[in-house]
Amino acid sequence: MLRRGDSEMILAVANTKGGVGKTTLSFLLAVALARAGRDVWLVDGDPQGSASIAATVRADASREPILACSAFPDARALGIQVRKQASKFQDVVIDVGGRDTEALRVALVLADTVLIPVQPRGLDIWALGAIAGLVEGARATRDGLRALAVINLADPGTSADNGDAAAALADFKALEVLGTYLVRRKAFAAAAAHGMGIDELSPCDPKASQELNALLSMVFDHQYHMRTL
Ligand SMILES: Nc1ncnc2c1ncn2[C@@H]1O[C@H](COP(=O)(O)OP(=O)(O)OP(=O)(O)O)[C@@H](O)[C@H]1O
Ligand SMILES: [Mg+2]
Repeated sequence: MLRRGDSEMILAVANTKGGVGKTTLSFLLAVALARAGRDVWLVDGDPQGSASIAATVRADASREPILACSAFPDARALGIQVRKQASKFQDVVIDVGGRDTEALRVALVLADTVLIPVQPRGLDIWALGAIAGLVEGARATRDGLRALAVINLADPGTSADNGDAAAALADFKALEVLGTYLVRRKAFAAAAAHGMGIDELSPCDPKASQELNALLSMVFDHQYHMRTL
């Protein structure tokens, strides 16, 4: 469980590749943080607006805690607003659209950490060069951007593809590869589509919960003191 009162962190969930789970993970991480009692701001930086739709579905269902969520289809507004408002929250999670956009570049300047979901497939891994290059570019203008790659939509079981992908990811020196992955599970898609946290699904999928919570710890653990209740 994360403690209240720890300092602010801005997390961008980004990849120039589309459909890798950026919105799903942004939303589920934001809900998990909010359910742990933290003041979270989910920022939708993708004109598609999927993260803010998920937050609205949650609010419409009166599911507590209701997430603070703002959508900024315009990169300049995204930059100005996050710079001005971030300190009012303990955690800010920015979902960035899948392409090399101005919003992505802005998010890489604002964020303390960028989480890069990647599918364990050759074409997706080769495409990582683009986001790794943007991370290096951002680092040339600012200090301390932590860049974490995580395998999402992994094959169930002990697939060779998952292991091969993890090994191939190590070639991207700009990125730290997380030692956990998220399997392709209906629970992840269903929870986000219904505006629910992964632990709120009924019936709950314990493996999905465990994977999401492992990701949460790895992304936030260095900053927050974790304790088990
Ligand atoms: N671990 C997972 N298990 C099952 N389905 C998943 C998982 N992660 C994402 N999905 C599904 O994959 C699809 C793409 O996910 P999502 O929209 O989060 O990707 P994205 O990177 O935000 O895409 P875009 O680039 O279009 O913004 C969605 O249908 C989502 O429900
Ligand atoms: Mg998305």
